[in-house]
Amino acid sequence: MRIGVLTGGGDCPGLNAVIRAVVRKGIETYGHEFVGYRDGWKGPLEGLTRPLGLEDVEDILARGGTILGSSRTNPYTVDGGVDRIREDVRAAGIDALVVIGGEDTLGVAKRLTDDGLGVVGVPKTIDNDLSGTDYTFGFDTAVSIATEAIDRLRTTAESHHRALVVEVMGRHAGWIALHSGLAGGANVILVPERRFDIDQVAAWVKHRFDQEYAPIIVVAEGAQPSDGGEALQSDEIDAFGHVRLGGIGIWLAAELEQRTGHESRCVVLGHIQRGGTPTAYDRVLATRFGLHAIDAVHEGEFGVMVALRGTDIVRVPLAEATAELKTVPPERYAEAEVFFG
Ligand code: F6P
Repeated sequence: MRIGVLTGGGDCPGLNAVIRAVVRKGIETYGHEFVGYRDGWKGPLEGLTRPLGLEDVEDILARGGTILGSSRTNPYTVDGGVDRIREDVRAAGIDALVVIGGEDTLGVAKRLTDDGLGVVGVPKTIDNDLSGTDYTFGFDTAVSIATEAIDRLRTTAESHHRALVVEVMGRHAGWIALHSGLAGGANVILVPERRFDIDQVAAWVKHRFDQEYAPIIVVAEGAQPSDGGEALQSDEIDAFGHVRLGGIGIWLAAELEQRTGHESRCVVLGHIQRGGTPTAYDRVLATRFGLHAIDAVHEGEFGVMVALRGTDIVRVPLAEATAELKTVPPERYAEAEVFFG
């Protein structure tokens, strides 16, 4: 078979590990051939390819980012986009696509499957918000980076008797905030799934200062106060209808300083959470996803996404994986609330 591979959406550590596993097993075990599409859906849309042989995947297991490049291109918002992809794939003699992406990229994969293309999906995102899989690769690395940042910020916050607000990524889902906040012993964790009362947050922060500790507040970029909206960096909308979030932490630090009388600072972790080498956990998960994705392609089972269930890798319909986001359930948030204040 001749198989196209692409990575779409926001990058995350472990993408190269998937590509390596797909190509290694695809060539060495099954004798297939590969074509790398550049920059997500832009690749098949504009015929942008690169070679993807054994030598191209040497030494990439531990490398962050993606050797294929990525983009947030949505072929369904481009005139004749789907026909162009179908035509490009046919002209390149490609039998199937391995698509590595999050909700948006895999949402397109699902629609293209309905339109007759052979696609197998692999779930990536630091946000861990894809349904159908217990974890996505990239999440463990992002949580580890955020946790290390919290540990470091705690010591300087304590020296200066300041509150430190740490803003992490998470547009609609607070998984990174929840896990890094729990791992780092945060005094308050704020997630998009639950609006927060600024007076309550200020009371928790004050209580922490009263006990002579420097409070650490972890806030997801998509968290919203009970009487306000999302903090936007730009209201420009991307091809999938998303605005660019950011700034809730800066707003929160200013409010807390004013309400508690204690100096409060904010650190926005931003893309640091997405860069660099994947953790061992993510390398293993990404590698296993890649191995199982090429098995699905080889067996001609399309329209599925490989997924982690417990310790097993299974196949779930792309339709199920992209139907709704996996957000933090109230009972998981309640576990963390025990440590607030
Ligand atoms: O979906 C992953 C993610 O990292 C989100 O947490 C974040 O809101 C978004 O991507 C940022 O995207 P970009 O890198 O395009 O600004």
